[in-house]
Amino acid sequence: WIDVAMPTTAGSRISVQRKKKKSRKPPGPDASLKRRFQSRLLKWYGSYGRDLPWRKTSNPYHILVSEVMLQQTQVDRVIPKYHEFLDRYPSFEELADARVSDVKRTWYPLGYNIRPERLHSIACETVERYGGQLPSEEEELLSFKGIGRYTAGAIRSFAFNEDAPILDTNVIRVLHRVFIAKGDPKSQKARLWQLSEALIPRGKGYDFNQAIMDFGATCCTARSPSCRRCPMKSFCKTYPFDQKSRSATVRHEGR
Ligand code: ADE
Repeated sequence: WIDVAMPTTAGSRISVQRKKKKSRKPPGPDASLKRRFQSRLLKWYGSYGRDLPWRKTSNPYHILVSEVMLQQTQVDRVIPKYHEFLDRYPSFEELADARVSDVKRTWYPLGYNIRPERLHSIACETVERYGGQLPSEEEELLSFKGIGRYTAGAIRSFAFNEDAPILDTNVIRVLHRVFIAKGDPKSQKARLWQLSEALIPRGKGYDFNQAIMDFGATCCTARSPSCRRCPMKSFCKTYPFDQKSRSATVRHEGR
């Protein structure tokens, strides 16, 4: 409660008590923490970001192919297959015209063979419904069978330069460790999506999203993160990640 001066009808002033208005704090990290995370991540990416072939293009078809390949496969196994696949099927039209059995053969040995089928069906739909141009709107992308929220965000940020959030295993791990550190990350997807969106510096969705993926893949790794040389250690809620006690817990829980 706070005292406020109120005028009376007689012209004098009396003091009355009013409930103090709660200051509405937006959910998520405060502005200064957000800025520190953004600037340290982008600086880290400038020094340690990986030089990957799908970062040399903004062609939506190439981005889509790379993202579908990267869904279940490590970067170093994807690189040669990404080149081979695009040599064989250089556009949505050529992929749509191909036989699914041939596409699957080209895909071999990446595995998870539902992926080439989905990619082929996305190509057919892109040609039939959009004249061979992948749309950039989230809702339209999500209407494709085989494009989920992550892939839509990746296409929008990497091919269309939109500040669209992404959330994959690496991003979940980084955001949960740095900003939350409690509970099971898998049960906090809504909060993590919000964080992923709130943290993107305006106009820098492309770099920010590529950076956070690399940071999760090479610095804030699942089993042995490089906490001592981590640029987030001064404010990370999980620092220092205790590998021994975590693996002991996992072992215990796994029994
Ligand atoms: N995994 C998924 N998308 C990726 C990208 N663009 N760069 C690196 N790893 C990824």
